[in-house]
Amino acid sequence: MKLTDHIWYVGVNDRDKERFEGLWPLPYGVSYNSYIVAGDKVALIDTVDNRFFSQFVEQVKDAIGERKIDYLIINHMEPDHSGSIALLRQWMPDVCIVGNRKTLSMVEGYYGQGGPTLEVTQGSTLDLEGARLQFTLTPMVHWPETMMTLETESHTLFSGDAFGCFGTLDGAVVDTDLDTAKYWPEMVRYYSNIVGKYGAQVQMALRKLSGVHLERICSTHGPVWTDQLQEVVKTYNRLSLYEGEPGVCLVYGTMYGHTGRMAEAVAEGLAQGGLKRFAMHKLGHSDPSYIIADAFRYKGLVLGAPTYNNGLFPLMQQIVDDLQGRVLKNRLIGVFGSFSWAGQAVKHLQAFAAQNGNTLVGEPVEMKQGFAAADGDRGRALGRAMAERILSGK
Ligand code: FEO
Repeated sequence: MKLTDHIWYVGVNDRDKERFEGLWPLPYGVSYNSYIVAGDKVALIDTVDNRFFSQFVEQVKDAIGERKIDYLIINHMEPDHSGSIALLRQWMPDVCIVGNRKTLSMVEGYYGQGGPTLEVTQGSTLDLEGARLQFTLTPMVHWPETMMTLETESHTLFSGDAFGCFGTLDGAVVDTDLDTAKYWPEMVRYYSNIVGKYGAQVQMALRKLSGVHLERICSTHGPVWTDQLQEVVKTYNRLSLYEGEPGVCLVYGTMYGHTGRMAEAVAEGLAQGGLKRFAMHKLGHSDPSYIIADAFRYKGLVLGAPTYNNGLFPLMQQIVDDLQGRVLKNRLIGVFGSFSWAGQAVKHLQAFAAQNGNTLVGEPVEMKQGFAAADGDRGRALGRAMAERILSGK
């Protein structure tokens, strides 16, 4: 698909993969985006998962006919994009692989030595004789070698994983030709799960791009952004600053229903306090990727779980580890929990709430053995306290 006089989209849709990175469910699939930039010289920007190589070759030929590819620009080495390098080298042995020092080392590590390479550094350029590429190093967005490539004549940014999202491209690739509604929640889920740990590095990349005039962003996943480009940048900026929307992510685990009744009481309290925007997740039912996404989306986070093996209910421990691993910060946190003979869960959740600039809101609620009316009162009070704090904007 032609994007400009000298840029083509040659990516593919993956509707078969169950879990991205073997972890994250893909209800709407995922696209692996690759692009051709052609002046008198031809550059291919990233490749696709190698399962799609034959389709990929056909699309490249549709774009440029029998012309050879002079350069393969590697913005990112994760194999969903670099996976076809070995096959591409077999197809076109003279293709020059372009990347920074870390990229070229990874090419060798993943695909072995062979063929010409060109090392680039921050700000260096490549003249395609009719188009011009400039490189910006953006380490840890999402791997150490990641970089972005700007085509300076058309103000097109090939951004790697940054500004990407889950979801296939159905019949078109540019935002103006798509109903983009499905991509926004999938952008939050993609960002928070895949890149969420690297907020500081995303901020550094955004600073490097500030002042650069952009007409379109071509990410490695999801639509080519043109009309909605500013909204995409704003979304990535907000998420990488760990700024939450006014709302609550309420996550709970329960074994025999008592902690579940407490969770319902907390939800009642949130509603009584006037809060309508909250997502409720029962551990073992909601996939962790959606919980992580809502924890990044909302300013408030309420966590509740039973004590288990003198510690935290294992599925809650996993979520706490997932959020700590992504350095989730600046959240208003409420906690509740239960035990039968030795209380540990609330203690662990309070310890989590004391980290990373988080603030404990309301009275922690700890329940011994069965759920009773007084426990419901304390749960509702916690919910009301959280709602009031969220709605006050403090
Ligand atoms: Fe889409 Fe980090 O690879």
